[in-house]
Amino acid sequence: MIKKMLLVSAMAVIGLTTLARERQNFDCDWRFMLADSAQMAQADYNDSFWRKIDVPHDWAREGDFFAGHPSGAGGGALPGGIGWYRKHFRIEELKDEKVYLEFDGVYMNSTVFVNGRKVGYRPYGYSSFEYDITTYVREGDNVVAVKVDNSDQPNSRWYSGCGIYRHVWLTRTARVHVGHWGTKVIASPPAGGGRGGRLSGRWKVNIEVALEGRGTVENTLIDPTGRIVGRSKGLKSVITVARPMLWSCETPNIYKVRTEVKVGGKVVDTYETTTGFRSFRFDAQTGFWLNGKNFKLNGVCEHHDFGCLGAALSEDALHRKLTKLKAMGVNSVRSSHNPPAPELLNMSDTMGLIVMDESFDMWRRKKTQNDYARFFDEWHERDLSDLILRDRNHPSVLMWSIGNEVLEQWSSAEADTLTLEQANLILNAGHDASSLAKDGERSVQSLLTQHLAEIVKRYDTSRPILAGCNEPSPNNHLFKSGAIDIIGFNYHHQWVKDVPQNFPDKPFIFSESVSALQTRGYYKMPSDSVTWAPQEWWLPYTDPTYMCSAYDNFHASWSSTHEETWDVIKHNSFVGGQYIWTGFDYIGEPTPYGFPARSSYFGLIDLAGFPKDSYYMYQSEWTSKPMLHLFPHWNWMPGQTIDLWAYYNNADEVELFVNGKSQGVRRKTAENPARRYEMHNLTTSLNTEYHVGWRVTYEPGEVKAVSRKDGRTVCEQVIKTAGAPAQIRLTADYKGRELTFVAVEVVDKDGNLCPWAEDQIYFSVDGEAEIVGTDNGCQTSMERFTSPRRKAFFGKCLVVVKGKGELKAQSPMLKEATFRL
Ligand code: GAL
Repeated sequence: MIKKMLLVSAMAVIGLTTLARERQNFDCDWRFMLADSAQMAQADYNDSFWRKIDVPHDWAREGDFFAGHPSGAGGGALPGGIGWYRKHFRIEELKDEKVYLEFDGVYMNSTVFVNGRKVGYRPYGYSSFEYDITTYVREGDNVVAVKVDNSDQPNSRWYSGCGIYRHVWLTRTARVHVGHWGTKVIASPPAGGGRGGRLSGRWKVNIEVALEGRGTVENTLIDPTGRIVGRSKGLKSVITVARPMLWSCETPNIYKVRTEVKVGGKVVDTYETTTGFRSFRFDAQTGFWLNGKNFKLNGVCEHHDFGCLGAALSEDALHRKLTKLKAMGVNSVRSSHNPPAPELLNMSDTMGLIVMDESFDMWRRKKTQNDYARFFDEWHERDLSDLILRDRNHPSVLMWSIGNEVLEQWSSAEADTLTLEQANLILNAGHDASSLAKDGERSVQSLLTQHLAEIVKRYDTSRPILAGCNEPSPNNHLFKSGAIDIIGFNYHHQWVKDVPQNFPDKPFIFSESVSALQTRGYYKMPSDSVTWAPQEWWLPYTDPTYMCSAYDNFHASWSSTHEETWDVIKHNSFVGGQYIWTGFDYIGEPTPYGFPARSSYFGLIDLAGFPKDSYYMYQSEWTSKPMLHLFPHWNWMPGQTIDLWAYYNNADEVELFVNGKSQGVRRKTAENPARRYEMHNLTTSLNTEYHVGWRVTYEPGEVKAVSRKDGRTVCEQVIKTAGAPAQIRLTADYKGRELTFVAVEVVDKDGNLCPWAEDQIYFSVDGEAEIVGTDNGCQTSMERFTSPRRKAFFGKCLVVVKGKGELKAQSPMLKEATFRL
């Protein structure tokens, strides 16, 4: 039994506990040095001159973009290297207890020392891990030192970040306690649940508890209102519940299991597990079902970075991301291509987002020179097991992905001999039949697939397994293994018509789709002519603008426009849904360009968090709130021919007016099955099933769109020609607990956005406030993410500020603006 314990950090008293477990956030008051010496591990090393920081921290985002950094443009052109973190803390009283240090994520190759002694090493930068440091700590002063080695680059096809980029926790427990990720709580519906009925019968909650030491276990199940609705005892037990409040995207009801561990009749540990009641299935004919309701998974793939904040986890930045995605109609997220931050799952649980939880981007065959393939043999079992153990209780997680486009899909693949940029491009270039599985063959690759699926099933059999596959043939070695529950294609919309015949009785989704390429604010006309790039994976694509068109008329060569893939999904009931590449732009992988481009063009939302126009196409298809989105802006050369597009819903037609003169009424067209599975269309149309458009002659003034249903106006949108840039406008794009994301716009004297403005804006703060980052969504901007100044890009930029105070934005030719935080 633990008596009263006092834990004091160098800066503050961080906890007081009696019997129960104490889990302290361990993020504050670290010291950091971007250098390497074995001495830095030592307890008595003098770190007083090191920089003071709090984690989560990402040192790479603080650097300059530089073509010569070994990460390459594909990795964001930001620095890597070896860095050390040290934290001093005090333990006033050390009783008969256990002490654990837990890291949610360190990229990568971390080695942890406590009081000069090594406690462990972990190569994979996305795994969460915990060390038992009981025998390493002592009463009084302690020091933890963490070496982070991200010097062997490239090791990622996108920007990874560097450092202790997720939270750190210190946990103290009684000797007898629930083990690390030591509960398994799975709620399952009454037999037959999910097929329309029987959801309101008695549900079973299976609870398994893994204890450290010997004790007895009692569980209570608590409903979303705080009421206890069931109890059980023992290491394995079942609670039944009648008519629970279901977890769904619209009503994400969360239950809790409170586990109490007793020794000699006294409670020595209390542990809480989140759970939820939902019934789901994937059907080969009808797609996806949740709680008896059939709908599409409207998903996006997301990498883990937060634009100018780099990889450093921020709950505010994550919540902003998910909120913007939900508003687009997104109901699911794929943690591409690695274990996500635990907070992504916590928020998905409470926000009602379904998660495809993914483990790896490569297995044994590498995609970049120094990537995880070099650790795979030794570490895959541990990393995959830990992912399932950590995440299996989240109601939001409905699928496990054991890999993305792994090269084991083929008998041989040459990508491991290529540069990072070439590897990114060749992935989808297509492989000939000779590298597929032969009939009756049981290949090493299929056996490996089976082995990984078995690891997953060891810890969870309640969710299906899939892999993101860009080889659509049924002779893909992964499909051939028989271990894949859901057929997941990456791209290949033209192959979808053959899926029912190629994969009879297997459910199907697009594990990844689209890869359209867009720059916010840039429009390539005529809008009905489509560009795809690069034309061949080995050919560079060049365009001096380093931009891609934000009409839906530009995409990667292996993929499609947004409309083309959505059309296949919408009109095929067996397709369970898709995961669009990507929701947000991310740092790295600037396809189709190379440096100075250093961030992606794939997002529906730019790196600064501003939606591109196609965002509204999905909003019109996926949400029911009336909306209308007219684009582009209305600042052109008089006499220029301009294409205007509108996305809308809840209406029959849209009429466009230029300076009051009607340009005609347009209606979306009927579906066009004739073109459904085409690849590499060079044209789209001004009017499709998904948008309407007008080709007009520009004259300054205003353009107005009016959507109508049964003759009555539903929505109106007016865009005026902006005059000369005159002033700065600051508005809160998102207010979080710690961070405020302030949208910065260059506007004319009447407040109209100046869509071509590129003014350099200088930010300053007073009070407690601190500028933590600036961004503008421009893929080639060389301004540092930490810089307090930023150029407007197509009229806009973003500043992220921490704390309270006043933000001021100034620019030589513009009236300044202030914003109270
Ligand atoms: C896929 C891959 C993604 C990304 C994307 C770009 O092949 O899974 O990680 O590279 O292509 O289109």
